[in-house]
Amino acid sequence: MPTLKIHHIGYLVKKIEKAKKSFEALGYLVEQDTVYDDIRKVDICFLVKDGYRVELISPVSGDSVVSGLLKKYKNAPYHVCYEAADPEAAYAELTANGFAAIDTPTPAPALGGSKVVFLTSPVIGMIELIC
Ligand code: NI
Repeated sequence: MPTLKIHHIGYLVKKIEKAKKSFEALGYLVEQDTVYDDIRKVDICFLVKDGYRVELISPVSGDSVVSGLLKKYKNAPYHVCYEAADPEAAYAELTANGFAAIDTPTPAPALGGSKVVFLTSPVIGMIELIC
C-alpha cells in the first residue's frame, strides 16, 4: 500500500465564522482564511493545532454539494483527507480495497487548485484523496 499521510480532517459547519472562533478558543490558529470554492459552492478555511489540520466547510447555497450532508450530520467531522507521494497508485490501491469513488478528480480552489477525489467505504464512510 502506498504511504498515505493525513492532510486534514474535514468538518461540516453551518456558520463558518462562528466555527472558526470556537476552534480558535480551543487553541487552533487560522492557517488559511476563508476561500470560496465556486465548484462546490462552499466556504472553506483551514486551521491547525499540534500538527493537526482541520478544514471547515460550510455550504454557501442550498444546492451546494454538502447541503444535504449538513442536514444529515449537523456540525460534525465527516471526512479525513489523505495525500500520497504517488496519488495514482494510492487511488488504485484504495479502489482495489473496497473504496469507491463518488466523484472524479476535481480542482480544489482552497488547496491551490490541486485536484481532489472523494471515495467512500461501506465500513468507514467518506475519505478524500489529494491527486
Ligand atoms: Ni477536505
